[in-house]
Amino acid sequence: MLRTTDDFYDWDQLIDEQRAHASTSIFVDEQIYALEVERIFNRSWLFLGHATEIPNPGDFVTRRMGDDQVILIRGDDGKPRAFLNQCPHRGSLISKLDNGNCQHFVCSYHGWTFNNAGQLKTTSYDDFYQGKLDFSANGLRAVAQLDSHGELIFATWDADAVSLSDYLGDMKWYLDIYFNRTPGGMEVLAPPQRWIVNTNWKLGALNFGTDNQHLHPTHMGPTALGILGAPINEVVNALGSSYQISLDGGHGCVNTTLPHDDLPYTGLPKELIPLYEQTLSPEQATILRRNVVTVGNVFPYLAWIQVALDTERKGEAIAAGTLRLWQPIGPHQIELTCWYLAEKEAPEAHKQAVLAEGLRTFGMSGMFEEDDLDIWSSIVTAGKGSIASTSTMNFETALNFEPVDDFPGPGRAYFPMLPECEQFNLLKHWKQVMSRR
Ligand code: FES
Ligand SMILES: [Fe+2]
Repeated sequence: MLRTTDDFYDWDQLIDEQRAHASTSIFVDEQIYALEVERIFNRSWLFLGHATEIPNPGDFVTRRMGDDQVILIRGDDGKPRAFLNQCPHRGSLISKLDNGNCQHFVCSYHGWTFNNAGQLKTTSYDDFYQGKLDFSANGLRAVAQLDSHGELIFATWDADAVSLSDYLGDMKWYLDIYFNRTPGGMEVLAPPQRWIVNTNWKLGALNFGTDNQHLHPTHMGPTALGILGAPINEVVNALGSSYQISLDGGHGCVNTTLPHDDLPYTGLPKELIPLYEQTLSPEQATILRRNVVTVGNVFPYLAWIQVALDTERKGEAIAAGTLRLWQPIGPHQIELTCWYLAEKEAPEAHKQAVLAEGLRTFGMSGMFEEDDLDIWSSIVTAGKGSIASTSTMNFETALNFEPVDDFPGPGRAYFPMLPECEQFNLLKHWKQVMSRR
């Protein structure tokens, strides 16, 4: 019996740290998902968008935070803000568009009108309130806190949450290698691709934070086509000599790096190398210089991947970088949201190549993407069974490895990268957050 009262679960049974097992039910149970909304999504810092999606005053995008609809908008004063996408009059969606630019939102139901700082300017029937309506108390409902790391904009519904900087902690050191590595920063190359996948959000988070055993079995097909940007023997070399990184706060990543400097900055524009080396620390620059693949997951559901690719087999590697959200739509569905980014200073041809390579491999019908999504969907399909939901998932290789001290970056580094150490650490953090009332 996993559930002993209406709001109490046996967390030590769901995540069994002695055996390194996790109950399948946490990936399919509707009540657990409801608790995740309350205890994870309504309390964590959640990624909302990249600053270059809303460069001008009035630019906005609509997003989700947990199970709520929100608007991220840059005000006339240049400040980004985020509001519940819900009219305070009778609850209609304020914006039904994915993105746009406006000075005012006019609710399509009765015409309440808000400026791009969320303030109510008119109800369209102001006379009927006879001066008694408190306009200042009837603006759009703002998130409790909004802040940015570089150009990555996050928000939380929790006024008591720690600062974004503390929330990200040592993950900032790794995020900067991939998203804050030139003076100009990155830019999104197109609006995000979004598509529905029948799976649970934690399967994406675990895969990117970081399931390294799946690389050969799951992705053998596209890998065998020779579409990686580095020679396959070098990629295998890198897989065997790299570390997985586990960080406080449930964050984790893997930087698959060559053990030598013979293929420097594979897939990155040569003209940007001086900018990388002036922006990053020597340790961060070494990781970028030797990198052929990286994935990471910021708890709970923001992930990245950068991989050197050559899908057209022209002998020209392109390091395609994406950010993605495992945005839950209930326990059994996500809206996978995927941005493609490149350095603002990069040549235009490189930006277009990053977008093309990213879409071909990790877009909606990407060659690597489809490999993963089919399997993650099958886990939920199988796990919903009344017998199957009582089974456990096995992470026992995590039990046999301790952190090592010869990795130059912050966090707990495990070598090699293949055991399930960081994945199980993520689940232990999930348990800690979920069991906090
Ligand atoms: S619901 Fe928006 S104006 Fe009435
Ligand atoms: Fe994968």
